[in-house]
Amino acid sequence: MFFITLYSQLSFLFIIILVIVILLIIYENLNIRKSKTSDNGLLEPPMPFKIPLIGHLHLLGGYDVPYKAFSELGKKYGNIIKLQLGNVKCVVINDQKNIREALITKGHHFDSRPSFERYARLFSGNKQNSLAFCDWSDVQKTRREMLIMYTFPRAATNKFHNLETIIQNNVQSMVSKICENNVVGIKPMIIQHCGNIFTTHFCSRQFQNTDKEFVDMVNNFDEIFYEVNQGYAADFLPFLMPLHKRNLKRMANMTANIKKFVLERIIGDRFENFDAADEPSDYVESLIQHVKKVKSFDWEMALFALEDIIGGHSAVANFLVKLFAFLLKEPTVQQRIQNEIDNAVGIEGRAIGISDRNKLPYTEATIFEAIRLIASPIVPRVSNQDSSIDGYKIEQDTLIFLNNYDLSMSEKLWDEPKKFLPERFLKNGSLVKPDHFLPFGGGKRSCMGYKMVQLISFGVLSGLLQHYTIEPFETKEYKIPIGSLALPRDPLQIKFTKRAVSL
Ligand code: HEM
Repeated sequence: MFFITLYSQLSFLFIIILVIVILLIIYENLNIRKSKTSDNGLLEPPMPFKIPLIGHLHLLGGYDVPYKAFSELGKKYGNIIKLQLGNVKCVVINDQKNIREALITKGHHFDSRPSFERYARLFSGNKQNSLAFCDWSDVQKTRREMLIMYTFPRAATNKFHNLETIIQNNVQSMVSKICENNVVGIKPMIIQHCGNIFTTHFCSRQFQNTDKEFVDMVNNFDEIFYEVNQGYAADFLPFLMPLHKRNLKRMANMTANIKKFVLERIIGDRFENFDAADEPSDYVESLIQHVKKVKSFDWEMALFALEDIIGGHSAVANFLVKLFAFLLKEPTVQQRIQNEIDNAVGIEGRAIGISDRNKLPYTEATIFEAIRLIASPIVPRVSNQDSSIDGYKIEQDTLIFLNNYDLSMSEKLWDEPKKFLPERFLKNGSLVKPDHFLPFGGGKRSCMGYKMVQLISFGVLSGLLQHYTIEPFETKEYKIPIGSLALPRDPLQIKFTKRAVSL
């Protein structure tokens, strides 16, 4: 009898909860219908059916690449779609024309970034310390201007030639390492050398790959890079943050260790010793000079900018690992790159360098093709005012997803988009970049590192293929993760075979 009463009470409770949930769903979705009416000539973007609390988060699950969900939604609802992800109002923008409107024509309406607690914690709890996650401000404008001469070194300048030598020295070091053992775990080798290229170029400091503190620093950066490239439900449902407590603590320890390395091994006594009246010789001195001359730019902010930029090596390194992984399956592409190298400098000629880029369009096209196929997302934007895209209303403080997965992989824009075909970026033997190819975003928040990506990838790729042909070491096929640049700690081993010199 007791159980029957309990059972009927439970069923009653269940029915009440069910009715409340259904009423909530109807209420939420009635609002959607109401809001479809036009306002000042602007239309409300269509919005799929949503669920209380999580909104549309469930629609993003079940895809190997999360942005595929946006392409699927696009087929059903059109190019501009309104979503509610947990407590964050969002809009997805599909199609080249609309993405360009958001990035360029109306770039000044969409120049803020999302406020995810996870990211803020990496920057002392203040996202404005971050180069990529801050909102637009005069400080960000200055930080970008200060970077230009270092991240976009102009051909035929000293900075460019120094960078060429730094890359060649690091390629030489990798070649020696490969000589000792022709099967190499590619990721550790690449992240250490990219780390060294960055610390030498931006900070005039070189480190040995046997230096444990340096190796710890690049590994810490790599883990943080992996972490920030992951999407978590907790970003949209903050009450889930406690579930990430342990992970956040681990990240905090890693950022503290990076800061210690930067202060002790990279800055040392340079702040006290640099005279602000002198010409800065590197990015570290440019930052010190700015802090000494401009009151509103403090040393903490400068240190975060420096760490952010040194951390850019993780992006280049993870990209290069994926590029080499693609080439394992593309012997013909390797052969064509080697032909270009041989025509420019020969197998045993002088070392190939970044000033040879113009002579190797196919090699450059290969780099573009790998970037296209990885299809990493554009860092989301946030609207700083009420605006519109393609006649659809976008409210202030809306998180904007720009679906560049579609731009990179759409069958309407590319022939056989799943295939690795560098020649799609060549026209009459010259490199071309189609307007819809936007892997580095665009406008006032565009990537500050894309030239470094192109130069270092070119230097390392051509430098290693000048001496070696690569093959997979294991018979098991290596699946390259796409939809994000980041790779987890990676076991990929590559077999390097010395090229024969033909007489
Ligand atoms: C293959 C590698 C890389 C890819 C695909 C990539 C892509 C991107 C994208 C899509 C954005 C957002 C652009 C936008 O909102 O319009 C961005 C921002 C940024 N990137 Fe890169 N990036 C790469 C490497 C790098 C490197 C090596 C550096 C540093 C040297 C760097 C520094 C930055 C910075 C500072 C921003 C933020 C700019 C701002 O918000 O004002 N990136 N990147």
